[in-house]
Amino acid sequence: MPEPFRVVVLVSGNGTNLQSLIDRVHRPGHAEIVLVVCSKTGAKALERAEQTGIAARVVAMGDGGREERDRRLAEVVGAASPDLVVLAGWMSILTAVFLDRLPDRVINLHPSLLPSFPGMHAIEEALEWGVQVTGVTVHYAEVEVDGGPPILQEPVAVLYGDTVESLRERIREVEHRLLPRAVRLFASGSVTRDPERRRRVRVDDGGDG
Ligand code: GAR
Repeated sequence: MPEPFRVVVLVSGNGTNLQSLIDRVHRPGHAEIVLVVCSKTGAKALERAEQTGIAARVVAMGDGGREERDRRLAEVVGAASPDLVVLAGWMSILTAVFLDRLPDRVINLHPSLLPSFPGMHAIEEALEWGVQVTGVTVHYAEVEVDGGPPILQEPVAVLYGDTVESLRERIREVEHRLLPRAVRLFASGSVTRDPERRRRVRVDDGGDG
């Protein structure tokens, strides 16, 4: 049997996107979530991992600050030998101490069409701005927050009368499809990043849907 494609998922809270990866991608021996790392104790995402029998660890910010946390995180994640690290609602900025250890192997999920509305309040800001279209981006994670090139993007219409909650719900539905699709594309070797022109990403998604 070929080696499984090893996925590590980083989370901070509820973990509905982790759940969609568990439901739609996680197949032990094939594409396998080998580890979940959470930035907080007591998060619902940890329960979801436990219920599926996936190893879970907490790596929280300590007194040593971000870089010291990232050294610990790199050790924990590195020990799982990931082919791909997925930030699925990981709400803490990562430094080069972590990201340089896993070049082109860390992807992030963001609830807007980047480069619009980077940061922690993408849905609120899209509503405040009055845009008619926002969406979801899966992109390479880089030191610049929400700054790496997109791998998949999908628009979501903003409707007259939308609230943060109603828009968030429609964005979530798209996230729950788009992130698993991105992981499957990586697992099948269908994502290529141009080694020279680093913002160019090719996705061969024939038939993946
Ligand atoms: C998701 O909507 C994700 O796009 C967002 O956090 C949510 C996590 O939900 N991430 C960011 O805003 C990153 N800047 P979940 O815990 O239910 O998967």
